[in-house]
Amino acid sequence: MFALLTLHILAVTIWVGGMFFAYVCLRPVAASLFEPPERLQLWRQVFQRFFKWVWVTVIVLLLSGHGMIAVFGGFGSIGVHVHIMLALGYLMFLIYGHLFFSPYKKLCSAVEEQRWPDAGEQLNKIRKIVGFNLILGLITIAVAAGGKFIF
Ligand code: HEM
Repeated sequence: MFALLTLHILAVTIWVGGMFFAYVCLRPVAASLFEPPERLQLWRQVFQRFFKWVWVTVIVLLLSGHGMIAVFGGFGSIGVHVHIMLALGYLMFLIYGHLFFSPYKKLCSAVEEQRWPDAGEQLNKIRKIVGFNLILGLITIAVAAGGKFIF
């Protein structure tokens, strides 16, 4: 249980903390310092590194989360807050999967072929999706950590 919960929290920290840093800190600075070609190449390379880690965190969250549920004795033995976490978690995974396989892949090919307006359009989509998943992630953490005092 100790190892599962520790891995779970480390994965949450890396994923949600990474989205917070990208959205709140790096995005405005990159927008003010760089013209589109440099900015779009910067984001393409930042995402290339970050998204590898996000895949790791998604797998760790799934394995550790379901591992803990099994240790607790199955779905009948978990609280409402864990059910909500699980539902929000799966929503976050689906949103991330869409982001990775659609706008991110399109961003990569647009940057490769130096189609900057198209790349900008995809980056804009990614910005909105990451902003949404960040809010969802923060809500999920609040429900997961504070939910047991409410439900
Ligand atoms: C398939 C997805 C997930 C499953 C099955 C799952 C399952 C679990 C379980 C069983 C616990 C232990 C609950 C307890 O000790 O009462 C837990 C803890 C936690 N989970 Fe998840 N989780 C999932 C996804 C997520 C996501 C996406 C986040 C945040 C973005 C998250 C954040 C947390 C936090 C912060 C805790 C610690 C709660 C505490 O000990 O106070 N989980 N999770």
